Amino acid sequence: MFQSPYEAIGGEQVIAKLVDAFYERVAKHPDLSPIFPNDLTETARKQKQFLTQYLGGPPLYTAEHGHPMLRARHLPFPITPTRAKAWLACMHEAMDAIGLKGPVRDELYQRLILTAQHMINTPDDER
Ligand code: HEM
Repeated sequence: MFQSPYEAIGGEQVIAKLVDAFYERVAKHPDLSPIFPNDLTETARKQKQFLTQYLGGPPLYTAEHGHPMLRARHLPFPITPTRAKAWLACMHEAMDAIGLKGPVRDELYQRLILTAQHMINTPDDER
């Protein structure tokens, strides 16, 4: 059988390391930290569930929270082009920090660019 991207990336442990490294950076980023909760424990837990299913692993996010409807769930937050770039920069740094390499990194990052662009709901001059 073909491997899923979830298996190719290294499964639960690698996703957990990536998400933890990511939110460490989000918490310190001046454009991002103001719109996130101070305690990112629950946010990180949901993101681990989400990325697991996004990569073709078990549908953990949907099992607990229902359909992701990600754009709708982001509407309460002003997601500007600047914030989308910052989000992607934190993810890129997190991938570097955990030493994630190869085609699975590149495919995941390319897909995240599209998803991040889809989340933009506010122009830069309105934040
Ligand atoms: C939740 C910001 C892109 C997946 C959130 C929250 C914020 C946020 C403020 C709420 C945190 C909380 O209350 O716990 C952003 C910004 C983005 C972005 C600024 C820049 C484009 C993305 C992308 C993905 C994603 C690309 C998917 C790969 C999620 C998930 C949640 C979430 C799964 C949890 C939803 C829930 O409450 O169930 N995001 N996000 N976000 N975000 Fe994003």
